[in-house]
Amino acid sequence: MMYNDYARYYDDGQLHFSVLMFDYLQRVLELHPVAGRSMIDLACGTGTLALMHADLGWDVLGIDASREMLRVAQRKARGDVTQQRSIRFRRADMRDWQVSTPVQLVTCFYDSLNYLLEEADLAATFGCVAAALEPGGRWIFDINTPYFLEHVWQPVEIDERDGYVHIMHSQFEPERCISWLQLTGFAQRDDGLFERFSEQHAERGYSQAILEQLLRLNGFTIEAVYDCFVLTEPTPISHRWLWVCTKQ
Ligand SMILES: C[S@@+](CC[C@H](N)C(=O)[O-])C[C@H]1O[C@@H](n2cnc3c(N)ncnc32)[C@H](O)[C@@H]1O
Repeated sequence: MMYNDYARYYDDGQLHFSVLMFDYLQRVLELHPVAGRSMIDLACGTGTLALMHADLGWDVLGIDASREMLRVAQRKARGDVTQQRSIRFRRADMRDWQVSTPVQLVTCFYDSLNYLLEEADLAATFGCVAAALEPGGRWIFDINTPYFLEHVWQPVEIDERDGYVHIMHSQFEPERCISWLQLTGFAQRDDGLFERFSEQHAERGYSQAILEQLLRLNGFTIEAVYDCFVLTEPTPISHRWLWVCTKQ
C-alpha cells in the first residue's frame, strides 16, 4: 500500500513543496479570485497546505485515501491548540466522494492526480469536484507532465537524512506513459537498528488535450494553464502544469 510506512517520514523530505505551492497559489488566486472562503484540498496528504489555508481563515476540508497521511495531518492540526481554525479531514478516494454544502475552491497538488492511472479515474474525480463546487467555483490543480515523467524523472533517487534513508527506483512504461516507482526505506528504531519498508507507487502523465476534454465534459471552463510556479504559459519541456478551471 502507498503512503503507509512512508507517511511518517514524508514531511521531513516533502513539506517544502506545500510551502512553495501555498505562496504560488496566493498569487494565482489574486489573478483568479474566489468568491468565498471555503475549500477542499483533495489528496491533502499530511495537511500542510490545508492547515496554512485554515490559518488564513478559510474553512477547509482535507480529503485523502491514506489513513497514515491523515493521521499525521490530524496530529499537526491538534498540535497548536491556541490556533483557532476551521479544519476537518476525511478519508476517501478522490474518485468517489461528495459533500453536502458546496465550496468555492477545490485544490489538488503535488502529483496527486498523476496517481490516477486511467482516464476514467480522472473523469470520476473531475465529476466529484464539479459536484462539490458552487457555480463559478474554482478547481485548481497541478500535474506532472508526460515530458517530466519520461525525460526528467531519474531512474534512481536517494534521500538520506539522520536515521533515515530511502531509495526510489523508477521505470518508465512508454506505452501508457506510466512511471513505476519502488520506494524502499530504512528507518532507525530506538534500539539503533534499521527497519526496512517498501512501497510501490505509479504516476501517469496525461496530455493537455485529454485533460481539456475531460474537464470540459465535466462542466469546467479552463481559465489558464501555467508553467507551474510561474505565471507564464507552459513550454514543451515544462515539468509540471498548474491548471485553473471554473465550474460553469
Ligand atoms: C505526493 S502526495 C501529495 C500530498 C499533498 N497534496 C502534498 O502536497 O503534500 C500524494 C497524495 O495523494 C494521495 N492519493 C493517491 N491516490 C489517491 C486517491 N485515489 N484518492 C485519494 N487520495 C489519493 C496519497 O495518499 C498521497 O497523500
